[in-house]
Amino acid sequence: MKIINVVGARPNFMKIAPIIEAFKDLAGIEPLLVHTGQHYNEGMSDLFFHQLGVPEPGINLGVGSSTHAVQTAEIMKRFEPVVLEHRSDVVIVVGDVNSTIACGLVAVKLGVRLVHIEAGLRSFDRSMPEEINRILTDSISDFLFCTEQIAVDNLLCEGIPEEKIFLVGNVMIDTLLKNKAKAENSDVLNTLELNDVDFAVMTLHRPSNVDNYDSFCRILGALEVIQNDMPIIFPVHPRTVKSLCSLSLTERTGNLPNLRLIGPLGYLDFLKLMSSAKLVLTDSGGIQEETTVLKIPCLTLRENTERPITVEIGSNRVVGTDTDKIIEAYRQVVAGQVGEPQTPVLWDGLAAERIVKILLEKL
Ligand code: UD1
Repeated sequence: MKIINVVGARPNFMKIAPIIEAFKDLAGIEPLLVHTGQHYNEGMSDLFFHQLGVPEPGINLGVGSSTHAVQTAEIMKRFEPVVLEHRSDVVIVVGDVNSTIACGLVAVKLGVRLVHIEAGLRSFDRSMPEEINRILTDSISDFLFCTEQIAVDNLLCEGIPEEKIFLVGNVMIDTLLKNKAKAENSDVLNTLELNDVDFAVMTLHRPSNVDNYDSFCRILGALEVIQNDMPIIFPVHPRTVKSLCSLSLTERTGNLPNLRLIGPLGYLDFLKLMSSAKLVLTDSGGIQEETTVLKIPCLTLRENTERPITVEIGSNRVVGTDTDKIIEAYRQVVAGQVGEPQTPVLWDGLAAERIVKILLEKL
């Protein structure tokens, strides 16, 4: 069976790593890893391959950054000949980035079976590019692997046949559990002089937050208060770097001595930093899940989440971008007014094994 595993952007790498591992050394399986090149910097891409032990991609399509239409079209144009030449039986895509839908479309139009890992998540906010990618990818996939029961229910509501849907757990958590001990050896706390210090970690890259002046300013208003209490470590995404400049906000962030802007971190350093933090503020999807498993309080700076289990039983709270609401939620965390988070069912490090077992049985 010839399988193409697709990755494109940073959050894809930790999702595909356990899948590649689970396929390793299986007789009769010929895997090919294709990187679309949507993310291409050392810090956004290469570093993750080294740290997660993912083999070098067999093919890198090198598409880089562009508008949505150009990026998606360019991925499709460059991926189609690869599928044809490789004569693939199956294409596996993960998550909700442009590479996911672009490669998914190419696969199904060539009659190749499509597997979507992390299917069924819905924010019900169609202004998010990722929501469109999720809905479209799920509607054309042959196998849909879900991380939580609500995702299964969403797919059933959309009319996806039950026999295509499998609740298997969370491959991103497979990677977290596998690397947690290794991350303990990271030197990041020493480097940032954070030993025995309470600190917050923040990540921010959603266009609705960082490309929008008002929204970014409301968040900064809350950071101005929080950084009076504790340092905020802010590994800045390239999109956010650009926005800080184009929105003329660098002077404002520069005036906050305890808001510490640093470059993107590798997987192990970020895991160590997150595990040691008092709280995490983020608009990322994956970090809501990772903090749930690590039992670190998470404030999600968005109006919605496609990962409701992290709020229902995890450590996550969706607080939006209102300055006062963020500060209020922060104060509750510091005062210890947070419930005892639980780990969602099947987030046990074995999701990739379940996925591969099902694929081998069904195919
Ligand atoms: C993409 C995903 C998003 C995911 C995020 C994780 C889509 C629609 N969005 O958003 O779901 O949460 O990745 O990071 O697929 N850039 C670099 N170096 C890189 C990559 C990007 O400098 O290696 C810069 C480019 O200037 C680019 C900008 O970041 O214009 C945005 O990159 P892009 O791939 O368009 O989307 P992300 O915002 O990273």
